[in-house]
Amino acid sequence: MNKKEIQDQYKKKIKLLIKYNQSYFNNSKSIVSDSEYDELKKEIILLEKKYNFLKSNNSPSKVVGHKPSKNFKKDLHRVPMLSLSNAFTEDDLINFEKKILNFLSENEKFKISYSAEPKIDGISASLTYKNGNFERGLSRGDGREGEDITANLATIKDIPKKISNKDFPEDIDIRGEVFIQNSDFENLKDKFANPRNAASGSLRQKSPEDTKKIPLNFIAYTFGFEQGLKQIKQSDYLKKLGEWGFKTNPLNKTISGIKNLIQNYNEVEEQRANLDFDIDGIVYKINDFDLQKRLGNVANAPRWAIAHKFSSDKAISEILDIDIQIGRTGALTPVAKIKPVNIGGVIVSNATLHNEDEINRKDIRIGDTAVIERAGDVIPHILSVDKKKRLKNSKKFIFPKNCPSCGSETIKEFNKVTKKIDAVRRCSSEGYYCDKISIEKLKHFVSKEAFNIDGFGKKIVENFWKLKLIKYPQDIFNLNFSKIENLEGWGKLSVQNLKYSIDQKKNISLERFIYSLGIRHIGLENAKLLSKHFVSFSKFKNLSKQIDYEDMLNIDGIGETQVSSIKSFFSNKDNKKVVNELENVLLIKDAIQNSDNGLLNNKTFLVTGKLNGISRAEVKSLIEENSGKTISSVSKKLNFLIIGEKPTKKKVDYAKELKIKVISQAEFLKMLNKSS
Ligand code: IVH
Repeated sequence: MNKKEIQDQYKKKIKLLIKYNQSYFNNSKSIVSDSEYDELKKEIILLEKKYNFLKSNNSPSKVVGHKPSKNFKKDLHRVPMLSLSNAFTEDDLINFEKKILNFLSENEKFKISYSAEPKIDGISASLTYKNGNFERGLSRGDGREGEDITANLATIKDIPKKISNKDFPEDIDIRGEVFIQNSDFENLKDKFANPRNAASGSLRQKSPEDTKKIPLNFIAYTFGFEQGLKQIKQSDYLKKLGEWGFKTNPLNKTISGIKNLIQNYNEVEEQRANLDFDIDGIVYKINDFDLQKRLGNVANAPRWAIAHKFSSDKAISEILDIDIQIGRTGALTPVAKIKPVNIGGVIVSNATLHNEDEINRKDIRIGDTAVIERAGDVIPHILSVDKKKRLKNSKKFIFPKNCPSCGSETIKEFNKVTKKIDAVRRCSSEGYYCDKISIEKLKHFVSKEAFNIDGFGKKIVENFWKLKLIKYPQDIFNLNFSKIENLEGWGKLSVQNLKYSIDQKKNISLERFIYSLGIRHIGLENAKLLSKHFVSFSKFKNLSKQIDYEDMLNIDGIGETQVSSIKSFFSNKDNKKVVNELENVLLIKDAIQNSDNGLLNNKTFLVTGKLNGISRAEVKSLIEENSGKTISSVSKKLNFLIIGEKPTKKKVDYAKELKIKVISQAEFLKMLNKSS
């Protein structure tokens, strides 16, 4: 990359960061996850370190937080509100302490005492008290200048309005975190991604009356400007805060030695899901105020404090229950219901357990303490469970031998291709016998790649199912619209729209139609192949004769698994009924055929061995373009066997036995008037 490209890349990242900040700080809305946001900040700082010509006033290395939003009056902090540097590993902590010792010109024998305070993930605020009266409250803003949110802060019951203790400083900025309790967040989780966003949203309401509606809490942990503060240690200050009527974090501790910090960190991390407030790490502050003063600040963070962050993609929580979900194909998927926990800014309350084997392999049980991972876009899953923490009466999880929905036996099939027993257990019912499977089939039927009915999503399927408006796919085309019109949330116009979008989809292509039936092993690609092969739906539907099934095996890409699945689909009376009734209400368009006057019309081909400079796929499409057909095995139906390098001897011998023409690549191309 040249300088310009590097600069462009950097500018792009800064621009994105500004966008995220604006949304978060001005609209109280995160448009990215915390981990993605942190990652972006890290990338920017790394680029700056690598290329010293990169500079921006909006760089996270310069800016603490963000400029205050326009809704509130701004005011300067008397002492800036700093940020904290982060530590992730034990090594980071060792380095942090080493630097401090160096700065103080002390050796390892010098024992440093830390105030270890679980870091509440909320919104920081600075409260000015003069002569014991709460006078003004500012948000952090950009660290230098905050928003005057006094009226909103005054609605918080944890914030004392008057403090009469004699030893309370005459003038002080008490600083701490405004947050929302997890139990209160439960009622708000549809509106906000996590408790911090909810707290921020509440605090930024234009009217204090609105702030009052969302219950906020305040925990105090530091101070800004002060006059008359007599304490000389953070731990004493925290104790005093309690006496003055502030809440402090009950998990605060005074600790020395890195090993002990780590032990405390691990213990607190395990308690995380049981706390009623979100924490994202532990803040370590040198306990002695004199030492803090000597150490001072670097850029925008103090030298005397660090935030030991929890992993942004893993967390520890408790498995409350194991649910079994049933998919469209009857697959039983176990899902762990976990005590909600914040992983990288997202509240996680479900984790997939994949299948029965996974549960057995990891011996996952209800009540276990587990490590849950949520990395990138992958569905959260259980990494491991802590067997030492297991209660004596804990029982091994027994996977249901009967379908939890319909009671049918559950089975593990033998996979003919892999010659192994499937890891997935399935409900053995067929057709539309099992309610859960039927609902999933309906969801598949209306999905994007299938009927793609506008405004007819998964939620509507569930809703209409519950109301007994639909049970089979054909019911979608015979809906009782006057009944729907009277349902909550529906009206004349929305029903009209729904009717219109359903009617529009009555005209459907054969491939989409085959796909929408949800035949196991027939995905979009296979549906396309079948559609091309059968051309019309009546031909596909009438394949009752053995010979037609065998013929299907000649379609490249369709194997025995697919054929036997189609067979079993059509042998079920529910399925037959669905197909017949759908056929009555729909117009299923024939597949567009390749012209049948090409050079290879009525001729069948099979390739064996490696060809030169032309792929199998290209040969296949060449054949089809010229009205020929490719088949997958040597049989009497084959007209030409094209042989490349190292052909399968068996195929060649058999072809010769059947007196089939065996041709070379060059001979084949000649048939198309092409030279090799
Ligand atoms: S001390 C200079 N103590 O963490 C010291 N901060 O990234 C800075 N926080 O803005 C603040 N719990 O929102 C401190 N016990 C605690 C804290 C804490 C949470 C937050 C606070 C601050 C951010 C720093």
